[in-house]
Order: sequence, then C-alpha cells, then structure tokens
Amino acid sequence: MSDARSGATAAHLHSSIEELALQAAVMRRLAESLSGGLNLEKVCKVVVDLVVEEIGALNCSLYLVDGGRKELALAAARGKAESASNFYPDGGTFKKFALGEGVCGWVALEGRPLLIDDVQQDPRFIQSTALAGEVRSLLSVPLLAGEKVVGVINLSHTDLGAFSRSNEALLSLASRHAGITLSNVQLYTRLAEAHHKLRDSERRLRELFARANDAILIIDATGHIVDANQKWEEFAGVPREGWDKIVVESPSSETQSLKDFLRKEASVRGGVTLEAALVRPSGLSSVVEISSKAFPFEAEEVCLVLLRDVTERKRLAEQLIKSEKLAAIGEVTAALAHEVNNPLGALYNAVCLLKSDLDLTGDNARLLDVAVEEAAHLSEIVNDFLSFARFPHARFDWNDLNQQVSNALFLMKRDERMGRHIEVATEFAPDLAAAQIDRSQFQEVIFNLISNALDAMKHGGVLTLKTYNASLAGRPAVGLLVMDTGVGIPEELQDKVFAPFFTTKEIGTGLGLPIVKRIVEEHRGTVSIESAPGSGTKVSVVVPISREDTPWRQYS
Ligand SMILES: Nc1ncnc2c1ncn2[C@@H]1O[C@H](COP(=O)(O)OP(=O)(O)OP(=O)(O)O)[C@@H](O)[C@H]1O
Ligand SMILES: [Mg+2]
Repeated sequence: MSDARSGATAAHLHSSIEELALQAAVMRRLAESLSGGLNLEKVCKVVVDLVVEEIGALNCSLYLVDGGRKELALAAARGKAESASNFYPDGGTFKKFALGEGVCGWVALEGRPLLIDDVQQDPRFIQSTALAGEVRSLLSVPLLAGEKVVGVINLSHTDLGAFSRSNEALLSLASRHAGITLSNVQLYTRLAEAHHKLRDSERRLRELFARANDAILIIDATGHIVDANQKWEEFAGVPREGWDKIVVESPSSETQSLKDFLRKEASVRGGVTLEAALVRPSGLSSVVEISSKAFPFEAEEVCLVLLRDVTERKRLAEQLIKSEKLAAIGEVTAALAHEVNNPLGALYNAVCLLKSDLDLTGDNARLLDVAVEEAAHLSEIVNDFLSFARFPHARFDWNDLNQQVSNALFLMKRDERMGRHIEVATEFAPDLAAAQIDRSQFQEVIFNLISNALDAMKHGGVLTLKTYNASLAGRPAVGLLVMDTGVGIPEELQDKVFAPFFTTKEIGTGLGLPIVKRIVEEHRGTVSIESAPGSGTKVSVVVPISREDTPWRQYS
C-alpha cells in the first residue's frame, strides 16, 4: 500500500470514526432530551435545537403531518442567530404546505430524504418563505414512525452544497428516533384528550342523573338497586337500608315488596310502563308512574327504572272530575229548584190562607200545622239552594262589620233557638276598620254561622261573636270569630263540612257552610273552622278591607 493510499484510508477511517462518534452523540442527546416527558412542544423544540447545533444548519424547521387535512403545519423552527427554537402550535401564518407541495410536501409524500445542493436548480423548491432569497441549499428528511410519515425536518443554508450525504444519514437516523417519539407523544396527547372528554361527559351524565326531576333507579337482573339518584333518595324518604321495606301496589298484581316488584315486573325484557302506589315504611303513600327499560350492558342485564310522583296530578284530576260532576248536578238541581219554587210558594200561601180561614181543631188543626211547617221548610230549602246555585252579583260597599254583626244578632233574637239558655257574648273591636263588603251577603254569612252555633248548643251554652282588625297576605283585613260551646264536630267529619249537601242534621240542607265559603271567597277572604268535639267550635272569617290596595280607612 503506498503512503498516499494508506494516508487516504487513515483519513477516511478517521472521518468515519468521527461520524460515528457524532451519530452516537446525537442519539444520546436525543434520547436524554426526549426522556423527560411526553410533551409535543418539548419534543419538537429539542429535535430542532439538536439538529441546528449538531449539524450546523443555518435554519431548521419541523413540520407535522395533519393526516385529516392532508397538509403539513409548522410546529417548531430555529435560525442560527436564535438561541432557542420557537414552537408554533397553530402552524403560524403561511406556514402550511399541502402534501406534495414544495420540498417539504414532496418529502412527506414520498417518505424519503431530499438533499438539494442548489435550490435554484430544483423546481420543487418554492421561493415563498421569508428566507427564500438567502437559501441556497436544503436538506429535508421525513420523520418516520415505522413506515408512517409523521412530519418533516428541513435544514437550509445560504451556501451552495452545504449538506453532505453523511449529514443526511445522521439526520435520517435522528429523525427515526424523533419520529417514533413524536408519534407516541401525539398518540398520548390524543389519548389524554379523549380521556378528558370521556371524563367530562361522564361528569355531565352524572350531574344529569343526580339532578333529574324524576327518581331514577338502575337495577341488576336480581332486582338489586345498583344505583339511585338524589330524587329517589328524597322520594323514598328512608335511607338505603329501608328501601326493602317499601311496598308497591300495582293494579296488575298483589301487594309486593319494592325488590320483588323490580325483579318480577320492572325488569321484564322490553320494559314496562304502569301506574302504582308506593307505600313507604312510615305508611305514607304516593301514586307513581313507573317506566322501565331493561337492556344488556357490559355483558350483564341491567334495567333503568324511572319513577314520577303523580299524586298531586291525580288528586287535581279527581278534584276536577268531582267539581265538574258537582257543577253538572248543580245545574240540573238549580233548574229543578227553580221549577219547584213557584208552585211551592203557591202551596205555602194556600195552606197559610186555609189555616187562617178555617177554624180547625184537634187532629185536623195539627195536620194543617204540619202542612204549613213542612211547606215553610221546603221553601227554605229551595231558597237556600237557589241562593247557592244562582249566586247574585255582590255589591262591595264600605261597611262596618260590627254593625253587621249587631244587625244579625238583632234579627236572630226572634229565633226560638235563642231562648234555650243561650248566653250571647260580643267582643267588638272599637277601632274596627271599615271594609268593602256586600251587606246582604255578609248578613247571610253571619246568619249561617250563628245558626250552626245554635244548632250545636241544643242544651244551651255561650255564643261569642268577636271582631278584630287583621291582616291577610300582608294587606289590612277585618276578622270575625263565631264561637260556640256546643257539641263540636267529630274529627273525621271536620274536612267535610264545607262540601255542598253535607249535613248531620235531620232537617239541614248542608248548604250553610258552602254558602259562607263562597261568599267569603268572593270577598277574597278566608274561612276556617276549628272544633273540639264535646267542647265547641270556632269559625273564623277574615276578609281584606278593600278590593283594591286602597289605604286603611277607619269607619266613621
Ligand atoms: N258550629 C258547629 N258545631 C257543630 N257542628 C257544626 C257547626 N257548624 C257546622 N257543623 C256541622 O257541619 C255540617 C254542615 O253545616 P252547614 O251549615 O253547611 O249545613 P247544615 O247546618 O247541616 O244545614 P243548613 O245550614 O244548610 O241548614 C252540619 O250539619 C254540622 O254537622
Ligand atoms: Mg248550617
């Protein structure tokens, strides 16, 4: 071997060793830098910094492939003058290439490196970047994750032929490593995003589940409650241990425990929709609309049960039907009463005339008396009813309730029931406000209440009438108390006394209190009754002093 040849071989060997050492250094630095954590920004910057520093490029840019959009977007870049690379999360302005466009696009599409000694000679080079005028040579290599191109690294220089094949080899090697890391980071980032989205949507679903207006139960195939929302907890009214004691009464089957119901009926395939009564351990029951849906979930059969409390809705519907029925009955009866009223009046007059004209004695006289009395009673019933059915339009004038009560008492003095050891006590508020009330309707109110009190004190007692200044829903009002020390109302009947035709009396019509209620409500007031069986009853009526919000006025 000649000296010259051996010298050349030694030089080649030396440069190969240097290249290998450089490769090793690059790989070590890359490995060290990239081991810190999975962060796309950091990885891109590290790759760009390393390339500029180790290979000595003037400029370096890293583009990432956006597969969906089929384009490359600038992720990081650095010029030699800059001390560190910048990160462009949105690709920056004008920093995008379509796949196949320009040098960068070509490399991404082909998946091969491209070394250009003179950019002027290569039609793939686009003179559109800020550096276009200065760039003479280029080295562009794909960032590969296996066979997949995840990005491109570009190096540029102001000198012609600034990059060597060994630069290309070194960059390709580094790119493989970086490409895999980048791909992992992207995967990890996407996974993390998906995880966050999943967690958010789970949280939203949980929130909806918790705040739903209906009670929701999730049960397994054995009828066991796996999950229940807050509404159910409130609705059940007992803690979880007590749920087994809840009983379901459905129209289709006999009474059964909630668990049996859920297992046997609610979780049948396809689900059910039914109405049932749910009875809590305390005995409190509610009508619920139950709809369930069974379906397989993660290899198990689960059932979603929705329960809606329809107790109030049912009650209102029933009340409506009842009031509609009552209204219909009322109309028919009013028409009938109207027809009966006139002949009845004629009959009553006729028997009264007969009584005064005929001079009857003994049984005949008694029979005629009975006829007069019964005709009077019948007439009273019909008139009572008509005043209930054909409620006349009220006239609200300013009146003194004290005066009204005195008048009513005066008129009732002649009532024979007053003679039965009844003591009348009055407590009239001296400063009672004047009130806008219909005088004749209020007479009827007072009259009916006194009449009931007297009926309740067959063996005597104290009738107390009290007036006072009150307030109703924040507005000035006047109140009337009618109290007796009579027999009182049995507890089980107390909520029936305002129902039309409810009476416990042999000759009562059961319209006295309903009339009172109607009149008081017409006056926008309230009436309530408190009774202690065996010791007496207290009825209180409160009406606002004015129809409008006019100022407080003293009656004078
Ligand atoms: N002060 C009271 N004490 C005891 N029971 C009462 C009293 N007021 C009302 N009640 C009961 O309420 C029922 C209904 O009263 P309401 O005035 O509506 O009808 P009534 O007195 O039976 O008949 P009507 O008043 O139409 O002649 C009465 O039958 C009675 O059982
Ligand atoms: Mg009555």
